Amino acid sequence: MSTTTSQLTIIRPDDWHLHLRDGEQLKAVLPHTARQFARAIVMPNLRPPIVTTNMARAYQARIVSALPDDLRAKFQPLMTLYLTDNTAPAEITRAKSSGIVHAIKLYPAGATTNSDAGVTDIAKCYATLAEMEKHDVPLLVHGEVTDLDIDVFDREKVFIDRVLFPLMQRFPNLRIVFEHITTRDAVEFIKQSSAKIGATITAHHLLLNRNALFQGGIRPHHYCLPVLKREIHRRALLEAATSGNGKFFLGTDSAPHALVHKEQACGCAGIFTAHAAMECYATAFEKANALDKLEGFASFFGADFYRLPHNSDKITLQKKSWTIPERYPFSEEALIPLYANEELHWKMI
Ligand code: DOR
Ligand code: ZN
Repeated sequence: MSTTTSQLTIIRPDDWHLHLRDGEQLKAVLPHTARQFARAIVMPNLRPPIVTTNMARAYQARIVSALPDDLRAKFQPLMTLYLTDNTAPAEITRAKSSGIVHAIKLYPAGATTNSDAGVTDIAKCYATLAEMEKHDVPLLVHGEVTDLDIDVFDREKVFIDRVLFPLMQRFPNLRIVFEHITTRDAVEFIKQSSAKIGATITAHHLLLNRNALFQGGIRPHHYCLPVLKREIHRRALLEAATSGNGKFFLGTDSAPHALVHKEQACGCAGIFTAHAAMECYATAFEKANALDKLEGFASFFGADFYRLPHNSDKITLQKKSWTIPERYPFSEEALIPLYANEELHWKMI
């Protein structure tokens, strides 16, 4: 790594949590990620969800063929399967031996976008989770309960107490990534848990608190799940991400939705950050005076958790102001990026 106040060169990072969608939408968003990252853990919440190794193989082929020619040899999609009440233990064996499936994703049913096929009761998955533990296949969790009597801002904390902690006791050797953590409670929980559990942190949860949802009016483009939290939580996340603790690593959760589906009476959850992912993380790390900690978080710790080699080439971020476009094309629609029409002061070159 080399750092000056105006330039930062680090080993090429990976994105350990990404939504790429499919078809023309996939073609529209994929180059943003492939320009910056060498690899990405690709979320399986398509319609229908990616529930078998064969589906993951076909989706991987679609991703590779959607890559622009100059990036095809440089970017590798790492596939995941969507856990359901009916995922058979035998599917885990197939996934493991495929070499292309790197994790299984748990969406509690109803927790977020395309989660209606998700798990209704974790107990239904015990045999499958035991198989994952045996084959050392990581479980990725969307850590929120969905009970209507639980406040939306408390869903992550309650998930830790009711689901995650008991799960870790039942399967002590299961490797788990607590995805897109948003609270101080999650940070504390990860810090005191075994080395089997890590967590991804998004750029938007490092940069924004829940005031961003109501800045002078309702802001649908700041709505994601888990929803943005109070400032104390944002600070705890920033402290964790910049601490050099290898349990915390980069996962953008960049989640594109067409403008028409965001600016709605009932708008979709998801923030698109792939257009400037590393610039956003650099902005957050710089504010914390911790640019020297960015490389570990972005380029090493996730690879170590997934037991994959570090990348060898490098990227350079320059201190340079630029204005984020107002929108990007997204199939026939428009896609509004985070910080649309606003300035960022880092640019990847
Ligand atoms: O904000 C989100 N968007 N959170 C998720 O968990 C899913 C994602 C999506 O797929 O749009
Ligand atoms: Zn996600």
